[in-house]
Amino acid sequence: MPVPLVLAPMAGVTDLPFRLLARECGADLTITEFTSSAGLSRDQANSWMKLESDPRESPFIPQIFGGDKVEMVTSVEMLQERADIIDLNFGCPAPGITKNCAGAALMGEPDHLIEIVSACIEASSVPITAKLRMGTGYIENNIVKLAPQLEELGVMRLCVHGRTLKQRYTGEADWKTIADVVEAVEIPVIANGDIIDAAAAQACLDETGAAGLMIGRGAIGRPMIFNEIKSQLGWNTKEPPWGEEDDIFESRLWCWNRYVELSQETTGLQHKWLKRHALAFTKGLPGSKAARTEMARNNDAATMAEAIKNWLTQKL
Ligand SMILES: Cc1cc2nc3c(=O)[nH]c(=O)nc-3n(C[C@H](O)[C@H](O)[C@H](O)COP(=O)(O)O)c2cc1C
Repeated sequence: MPVPLVLAPMAGVTDLPFRLLARECGADLTITEFTSSAGLSRDQANSWMKLESDPRESPFIPQIFGGDKVEMVTSVEMLQERADIIDLNFGCPAPGITKNCAGAALMGEPDHLIEIVSACIEASSVPITAKLRMGTGYIENNIVKLAPQLEELGVMRLCVHGRTLKQRYTGEADWKTIADVVEAVEIPVIANGDIIDAAAAQACLDETGAAGLMIGRGAIGRPMIFNEIKSQLGWNTKEPPWGEEDDIFESRLWCWNRYVELSQETTGLQHKWLKRHALAFTKGLPGSKAARTEMARNNDAATMAEAIKNWLTQKL
């Protein structure tokens, strides 16, 4: 049975043109990278810049984080006019975030987490979703206990990454616990962690019975993964936009050109983003060292976009 495929929120990766590209490659839902409620509630431009969207990104789901209830509620109130759904982050393991008891650290203070979610739901005119981990890894994992409480408060959907805060990105994602969460609630649960191809997607679905799958690292430089999963699992018969040929250069060239076009249409070409994606799009390809030389040589975004396009074209 087909389920929605979601591009995971990833700071420094899932900028607006990349999210639009992922949708064209078959992602059903996209979410912005996490954005500080401290910054949003103080109207800081760099925080608001992370929440740009486009009519083609519908529904628009901004993700916010923070350990201060008032800042979180203020951010929800400021966002709800533009957002279709607001996602709350309780999964980030970065020390810069967790030291302020935000992100995944809040799973170690479940009462505080519940208080924040409850206040956000009360303040919001749009549905609230939450993304969590198993727990902190320092105390007993509490996702299975927390999930029904969040459902009771009115959270519309949960996304669960099968790792603890302590694990960060090490070890294997624990899909068994995600299955327990699916059992414990009626609301949709999106499973996340280690879905890197169609076989993993099917295995995760079989084990968890989740209502959707979220893909993060597997989509970095490879947004075509959404289309691959759907066609390999027989979920769609649509020909991919880069053609039937199973050619890694052809699909990456199509994606690169589209990323550049979508950037031009929305945020403008951003050198930092282009460079990061160029690295990811060429990673692992034969001869990619030459592409990295092009990246280092070109300080201008438009020149670099063209150079990477030419490099991928020559390889066809
Ligand atoms: C570079 C990077 C940035 C991330 N940023 C965020 C973020 O902003 N918000 C969030 O909820 N999770 C973030 N995550 C976690 C992912 O959304 C996802 O939960 C995690 O990578 C596990 O999924 P995967 O195994 O498919 O990569 C990030 C992960 C990576 C690798």
